[in-house]
Amino acid sequence: MRLIGMVLLAALVAGCYDERSPSDPAPEPSLDAQLRASIGPWGVVPIGPMRAEPQALVNLGAALFSETALSGNRDVACATCHDPLAHGTDALSLPIGTGGVGSGLGRTLGAGRRFVPRNAPSMLNQGLTFLYMFWDGRLNEEGAPGPGPRRGTAGVPIPASVTNLLVAQAMLPVLNRDEMRGRAGDRDVFGAPNELAAFDDSAATAIWSATMRRLLAVQAYVAKFDAAFPGVPASSLGFEHAATAIAAFERQSFTRTNSPFDRYLAHDDRALTDQQKRGGILFFGKLPCASCHSGPMMGGVQFANIGVPQLGPGVGKGAPLDFGRGEEIPENPFYRFAFRVPPLRNVELTAPYMHDGAYPTLEAVVRHYSNADSALRNYDVTQVHPSLRTSYHGDAPTINAIRANIDPRLQRPLNISPSEQQDLVAFLKSLTDPSAR
Ligand code: HEC
Ligand code: HEC
Repeated sequence: MRLIGMVLLAALVAGCYDERSPSDPAPEPSLDAQLRASIGPWGVVPIGPMRAEPQALVNLGAALFSETALSGNRDVACATCHDPLAHGTDALSLPIGTGGVGSGLGRTLGAGRRFVPRNAPSMLNQGLTFLYMFWDGRLNEEGAPGPGPRRGTAGVPIPASVTNLLVAQAMLPVLNRDEMRGRAGDRDVFGAPNELAAFDDSAATAIWSATMRRLLAVQAYVAKFDAAFPGVPASSLGFEHAATAIAAFERQSFTRTNSPFDRYLAHDDRALTDQQKRGGILFFGKLPCASCHSGPMMGGVQFANIGVPQLGPGVGKGAPLDFGRGEEIPENPFYRFAFRVPPLRNVELTAPYMHDGAYPTLEAVVRHYSNADSALRNYDVTQVHPSLRTSYHGDAPTINAIRANIDPRLQRPLNISPSEQQDLVAFLKSLTDPSAR
């Protein structure tokens, strides 16, 4: 009542004493009015809770997620690179797979091994069903005759019963030699021959079966599979069952969607600070951020080359460079050096950033956007771990090839002032669900 009274009084006073000429600018709308108007067009909506997964399935998935027997040399688990205690990341710019020693920031390459070529994405919110998985989007449902992944798994024979991308994804790391499988002739950490690495790269089905044989040789797993898949005899269990459990665990444990920004979207004006609101107005309004980081996930549906410096051993035919989506779709020059626009919820917790971990902080990311071209040309490689610096591709032909193809929205400097940069970082931190900390 009191508030309405004051508004009425203010209107009366304004009515009596307003002597502005018609050409005077209208008073600036409130931060909330500006922010809500600028969010409007971008399809960003609160996400809300997910349905609970069957507990026995989650229990099995949790065990498998930390199970080193999934790796050929019995030394690496999903959790090595997606540590549940580190927000589902490894905190490294580029991961260190089988043969590596130590964990987290202290992890070092094994003799004769190489870095995994791309940054390990956080597991936070992977269960929200993205259209495209991986930095190059190679796992997706494009071209699928019915629901389910078909295209872009490099000919990997994902069983037809697998219709969910997150389940399909969980079948892939065990095939990857750098991440989990190892090289022919490797011996595992107990000195036994690595039978998974002996298979040819094309023998995915045989590798999955052999991995299941390892698991089902352990009585505790026989019991866990039986509880998770009651009525399915052990002889009918395939690695897709393991992958189904891993995906259930990922959905259950890593879905974190109750950020201050989500509460703001649900109409709580007090959920954000004024600085976060100013950052949001920049993100959704004055700057082009939301035109790429759009939709309910604030990313995940488009690809762009934003001029990120290239680091690491490279991927596929482009090696030692990483063409990103361009490796998948070489016929279209738009995609050269383009990567999937990352979803941004909880981004505060998932440093380092970009497909190769080139930037250690959100401040460094936002500085990049102020002038992408100059940031690319003047990249300071001392931002990454010394062991990676020699694999920085700062030669003029590479820099020029990336520059030639930077997304039109970022070709000219955005010139984001230092105080605007702080506002943007504050806004990005409003995307953190406190329970994910
Ligand atoms: C040696 C490190 C390593 C291990 C071990 C590993 N991953 Fe990953 N993971 C990565 C990297 C790197 C990527 C991104 C690869 C790319 O985009 O090309 C990734 C991508 C993913 C993604 C997709 C993320 C996205 O944003 O599209 C999921 C989900 C995932 N991993 C789950 C798993 C599971 C489940 C396991 C165990 C079965 C596992 N990972 C084992 C490094 C690892
Ligand atoms: C032209 C599309 C585009 C625009 C505009 C854009 N982004 Fe991005 N953003 C991307 C892509 C693509 C990546 C990943 C690039 C890579 O790894 O090479 C990215 C990465 C990021 C990351 C790192 C996320 C992670 O998990 O590594 C943040 C944070 C980010 N953008 C915030 C912003 C902000 C803030 C703005 C506005 C100033 C903005 N973006 C504008 C496409 C865009």
